[in-house]
Amino acid sequence: MGFPSNFVWGAATSSYQIEGGWNADGKGPSVWDTLCRREGMIYQGHTGDVAADHYGRAAHDVGLMKQIGLKAYRFSISWPRVMPEGVGRVNEAGLAFYERLVDELLAAGITPYVTLFHWDYPQALHERGSWLNRESVGWFEEYTRVVVSRLSDRVRHWMTINEPQIFLGPSEGEGFHPPGNRLSHGERLLAAHHTLMAHGRSVQVIRAEAKARPSVGWALVGRIKVPASPSVWNFDPSGPTLEHGGGPRAEDIEAARRLTLSVKAKDFWTNTWFADPALLGRYPEDGVRLYGADMPRVRPGDMETIHQPLDFYGINVYDAEVVEAGPGGEGRVVGFPPGHPQNALRWFLVPQALYWGAKFLYERYRTPLYVTENGFSGLDWVDADGKVRDYARIDYTRRYLAELSRAWRDGVDVRGYFHWSLLDNFEWQQGYKERFGLIHVDFTTLKRTLKESAKWYAGVISANGADMSVG
Ligand code: FCB
Repeated sequence: MGFPSNFVWGAATSSYQIEGGWNADGKGPSVWDTLCRREGMIYQGHTGDVAADHYGRAAHDVGLMKQIGLKAYRFSISWPRVMPEGVGRVNEAGLAFYERLVDELLAAGITPYVTLFHWDYPQALHERGSWLNRESVGWFEEYTRVVVSRLSDRVRHWMTINEPQIFLGPSEGEGFHPPGNRLSHGERLLAAHHTLMAHGRSVQVIRAEAKARPSVGWALVGRIKVPASPSVWNFDPSGPTLEHGGGPRAEDIEAARRLTLSVKAKDFWTNTWFADPALLGRYPEDGVRLYGADMPRVRPGDMETIHQPLDFYGINVYDAEVVEAGPGGEGRVVGFPPGHPQNALRWFLVPQALYWGAKFLYERYRTPLYVTENGFSGLDWVDADGKVRDYARIDYTRRYLAELSRAWRDGVDVRGYFHWSLLDNFEWQQGYKERFGLIHVDFTTLKRTLKESAKWYAGVISANGADMSVG
């Protein structure tokens, strides 16, 4: 086990999922405020109206972060809190909230990592066509400029967008995520093209206008395939490396690599459709071939806008598929054995996703990596004696961290890890059904309780990952 000496240990959240204060102090509505009011869209009609009331309790929450010993905190800014109509008018009270949060964090010795867009799109801009409208590129640029001009003297770490694969994929395609439209594949590709351009412009604005030298990245879904191997499910902190034998077959590794780095279907469950244009300056050929006539019209200059070097690549990783090579070397997904561990959302646990995911993406893009999200959803509650005994979360996290450490030892430039999530929160369509937090939130009283995982994580951080034992 081991991590670089300056490794960034953090936790992550997003605005809509924790803030509440949905119409406080001049905030405009987001597409999520709208969606939550539509019947049948969210589990039991839950909304983010109050959520964990982080809007009212940010200072207290920073105190809890300090107690855990977090080195960094990843949070997102609610675009319509800062610009109620998405463009034009700036809501001073909204900006002041984030300014106070940043100041509290810095005073506590915690480095802020800001995500500009984590899905709570301004409703007013949605009505003007959202990402389908080419003007959306300029809208995001304008919003970036407002935030950067106000916070960049104190914030140095920026992420433009979170998981375009999700907000453009299931959201627009299947109609269960805002904006809830059912779009054709061609329309989704156009929206993705504009999103990528908006990302590129945002990077340019941050670089040109930040007052302190910025470090700029993004947070993408890591869609990872791992090679089948007898050790996939075993926990071995020293790490079963290939050199020590017992690792997967070379042809299975190759199959997993190829599938991780390919576009295979008319959906957005891909890494390369987004990362190739941004980091290599072109759409991946296999996708272009597959999408054919659905491809968006790429105008002169578009790819140059999209192609902006990044200081880091953030991956959000929870699970993975297991792959083996067929007789002709082609990869095929193999199922999980009965009873394979799952979280409360029924996502399968695959710790090696952090090893292979980090490795495959680093080999292709040569960009320093952060794990910007990784965590476990449970059905935790406060025990009669006041403790929250979430040992499954602890075990999940140490298995994944062990694999991340192995990636680092094998030469991947891994800079940090953000646990998802700091607090129990509003999990989109699932409402408050599952809990991802290191800190338990009673959604009636809004009382916070540090779970056992938070105490364990505090120990991991203070030992820089050298000790992950469970007390
Ligand atoms: C990711 C999202 C995050 C949270 C986790 C569980 O896809 O970025 O907001 O919902 O999943």
